[in-house]
Amino acid sequence: MTISELQSEIIKLKKEKDICILAHSYQAREILEVADFTGDSYKLAVDACKVKNKNIIMSGVRFMAETCKILSPEKHVYIPNPHAGCQMADQMDKELISEVKKSYPDYTVVAYINTTADLKTICDVCVTSSSAVEICKKIENDKILFIPDCNLGAFVAKEIPEKEFKLLNGGCPIHACVSADDVKKAKELYPEAELLVHPECKPEVAELADYVGSTSGIMNYAIKSDKKEFIIGTEISIAEHLQYMCPDKDFHYLTLKLICPNMKATTLVDLYNCIKGTAGEEIILEDSVIKDAKKCIDEMIRLG
Ligand code: 13P
Ligand code: SF4
Repeated sequence: MTISELQSEIIKLKKEKDICILAHSYQAREILEVADFTGDSYKLAVDACKVKNKNIIMSGVRFMAETCKILSPEKHVYIPNPHAGCQMADQMDKELISEVKKSYPDYTVVAYINTTADLKTICDVCVTSSSAVEICKKIENDKILFIPDCNLGAFVAKEIPEKEFKLLNGGCPIHACVSADDVKKAKELYPEAELLVHPECKPEVAELADYVGSTSGIMNYAIKSDKKEFIIGTEISIAEHLQYMCPDKDFHYLTLKLICPNMKATTLVDLYNCIKGTAGEEIILEDSVIKDAKKCIDEMIRLG
């Protein structure tokens, strides 16, 4: 089957089977084209609450599908490729953070949404890259234990100097690979370009950027900007999508190290097979996990 034949089948089957497709902005273009909702982690969490269909397919990584399930426990939620995890979400578990919390009893535990459902059950508030600064400002407590991403945590802490942040040594290994030297080389190649980066990059990289924001934030900034040339410091799919959306502008990869194998794992064929019911995995979470993890996601939506 060709890509467009597969897409037509997917569109036909999702109507017949009452399925809504959510896809993260890092997914391949051919997947985004058949999705009902697309965007960054925050937008997808909010969109998941609006879905009327009985079934949801979350094309992205596992913690995103778990978030959908937590927000819509009565629905069937599927991940097309069960191997699509997130290296950051897998770094810290409930046992580790329970121990850490003992040393910081008076701190509010803020969990980046890139965490497992199980870990979220012992956290106070969730944040995403697009909502972290706003939410941490609104939290009444001045002491924040921010997990797991120390780069996003450092970015937020810099924006809110009046609060005390305790950071742990976690983060996205893909974004953390980018160095100030990579920025120097890209700027030498494209001296007129603006640099837009994700806050999962190291502070030394974020400091050199013209804009720091979520995947949707980067896309919106580039679309609205009068500038014509950009260096994109997040997963390379974003530069590719932007190039299609804005053919009169030029988008360059900051570095080819910015490739997330987990986000690349899901293909249009996986999505098709998941809709047919021959592949993918239904997300099943214990009721107690859903109930406890929902508190910190609800708090994110309330404050966000
Ligand atoms: P966003 O919240 O910006 O979509 O980021 C998700 C992510 O995994 C970035 O690596
Ligand atoms: Fe996780 Fe990093 Fe991939 Fe985002 S880019 S899904 S944080 S491993």
